[in-house]
Amino acid sequence: MLQNPFVYGRPVIGDKFWGRTEQVKMLRGLIMSHQNTVLVGERRVGKTSLVMNTAQILKGFSVVKTHFQGVKSVDAACKRLISGIAAMEKEDSKMRKIMQMLSRFRVAIALERYTLDPILKFDIAHAFQPEDLEEVFRLLKQIGTERKGKFVVALDEFQDLLRVPDANELMAMMRGYIQFQTDVTYLYIGSIRHEMVDIFTKNDSPFLKSATIVEVGPLEEREFIQSIVTQFKKGGLQVSKPLISEIIEITRGNPGDTQQLCHSLFNVSSPGKAIGEEKLSDALQEIYSCEGKLYEEYIKHLTEVQIRMLLSIAQLGGKGVYSKAFMSSARVTNSAVIKHTVARLLDRELIFLDSQKEYRFVNPFFRKWLMIQGIA
Ligand SMILES: Nc1ncnc2c1ncn2[C@@H]1O[C@H](COP(=O)(O)OP(=O)(O)OP(=O)(O)O)[C@@H](O)[C@H]1O
Ligand SMILES: [Mg+2]
Repeated sequence: MLQNPFVYGRPVIGDKFWGRTEQVKMLRGLIMSHQNTVLVGERRVGKTSLVMNTAQILKGFSVVKTHFQGVKSVDAACKRLISGIAAMEKEDSKMRKIMQMLSRFRVAIALERYTLDPILKFDIAHAFQPEDLEEVFRLLKQIGTERKGKFVVALDEFQDLLRVPDANELMAMMRGYIQFQTDVTYLYIGSIRHEMVDIFTKNDSPFLKSATIVEVGPLEEREFIQSIVTQFKKGGLQVSKPLISEIIEITRGNPGDTQQLCHSLFNVSSPGKAIGEEKLSDALQEIYSCEGKLYEEYIKHLTEVQIRMLLSIAQLGGKGVYSKAFMSSARVTNSAVIKHTVARLLDRELIFLDSQKEYRFVNPFFRKWLMIQGIA
């Protein structure tokens, strides 16, 4: 059986990474000139893949990758950073050096039995304090100096640091350490656009104007379509242009969602044939059979007005949520209710505000499913 050529759910590298030639070049240039950079883009658009593919062509660079998703304390933020440093190198001699460097943080390092990845064991009686953060950044500086500036620290889901109590103080401290590190290039990656933009552009933010902002948008359309056709062909299948347009309409061109839908479409199609349009609903069914339970769970925890609001966004789009037509569709008479409900749905990460100021479903397949169920 031919292997499914579509990959989703994890960053893609090498020949699985389509297009973005110019963006890779640009990011490479920024890193080579030690320019700290913000990468902002919606979920599953390919931010991490862009960083990984750029890192691959940066000869001799070391990259610390860590993410702050769900972090709610300085303790957790320090641990994520330290784990990122430990994961950077597997090579024995360098690893030993890093272990020595990390020993000051009261962590024990063991190697995972099968992958030989380092696993850190933190002393549970010790919670990292803001002053430990200074130590962690001192270590990053030291590594940068040792690597003669060929050192990148990628901080993913950076905006989640805003959820840490005293976030502003934490950010001010970080900014203070980072600004003197000429041998380390920082990449701040985030998917919650307005929060990321605020961190780097608001007047009272410690990170104001401290980095170049790069928007990671959808892939260039022609290249995207061509890549999809080529992948299907690799798998012995032909796909028509109108069918690809339908796929892209459902996923709004999000690379991760498009790959997921194509993956299912590949699964439900027979090799050697052109894929008929009816296969699209089989593919969606396949996705619902995996994710349906999750959607039911979402519904269970939503109020009626939240569900009606979601349905209205699904049907009318999320641009004019305060318009008469929208409010009557959601059966809401008071705009304060709309505001509150939007905030709740954003909090629950069921919707997000895109760069065109439209509220959209985080998961386009949940949108489709909801429309079919017609729950209201
Ligand atoms: N350039 C690309 N070529 C092909 N597929 C891509 C590309 N970029 C992203 N994808 C698809 O999107 C998925 C998510 O990619 P990636 O993890 O890099 O995105 P992300 O923006 O970092 O997502 P998240 O917000 O979840 O961290 C991949 O598994 C792949 O299916
Ligand atoms: Mg990512």
